[in-house]
Amino acid sequence: MKKPFVAGNWKMNTNGHTSMDLADRLASAFTELAGRNVTVAVFPPFVYLQAVGKALNGSGIALGAQDVYFEPDGAFTGEISISMLRDIGCNYCLCGHSERRHVIGETDGLIRKKVSAAISGGLLPILCVGELLEERKASRTNEVVTRQIKEGLSGLSAEKLAAVIIAYEPVWAIGTGLTATPQQAQEVHDFIRKLLSQMYNQRSAEDIRILYGGSVKPDNAAELMGQKDVDGVLVGGASLKANDFLVIIRAVMRFKMPV
Ligand code: PGA
Repeated sequence: MKKPFVAGNWKMNTNGHTSMDLADRLASAFTELAGRNVTVAVFPPFVYLQAVGKALNGSGIALGAQDVYFEPDGAFTGEISISMLRDIGCNYCLCGHSERRHVIGETDGLIRKKVSAAISGGLLPILCVGELLEERKASRTNEVVTRQIKEGLSGLSAEKLAAVIIAYEPVWAIGTGLTATPQQAQEVHDFIRKLLSQMYNQRSAEDIRILYGGSVKPDNAAELMGQKDVDGVLVGGASLKANDFLVIIRAVMRFKMPV
């Protein structure tokens, strides 16, 4: 039984006041949502994680980090370890978000180390993959996604794969207002599931959650969630507005009730 997943990536937004306000609004609304057949996690900036975690405590909304470092401790100035994140109540971390790949320059090799260390350290990684616009135009989407998934999961056992969530986020749809059509999203999600079935087995591929991300908004969430292989959404901009994020959560709950 796979629960749909809604992730809110706040990126480098909010401040001390607005992060608390957002967390408080989400916490009180989510507590009242009947059923809760959905997993919701928010990914605030590192410096607000602890305060947001406290505000969310008891609400049922989980806490995640936008990035992580793979070494356990030591001379890694500016980095944050898995145990530090566990220590303050994080359960999830994004690995290889497109902004880290394309703005910061993270490689597939580094991302693989993060995914693997996260699982060993007790954090559930969301491995983000997706093609650039020129790669899509050159019909290279499947090739790019295959490389990112094969390298990101390299050496990972089927048992450990069960801890992983995949997020397909076409780079051209992130923060641009351009969303992949539901058909485009479904095509790539189906491709990823088949790839995982070849790399592992059909059972593991069926069980893994594949989220869609890239300009998910209240008015397109339902259509995206109506696709067979879309198991949830990774929301950026719209997760900064409590009402928009809640509309998206409700759409996901309506479309993907676990049986
Ligand atoms: P967006 O961001 O919803 O603002 O496009 C999505 C993401 O980067 O995770």
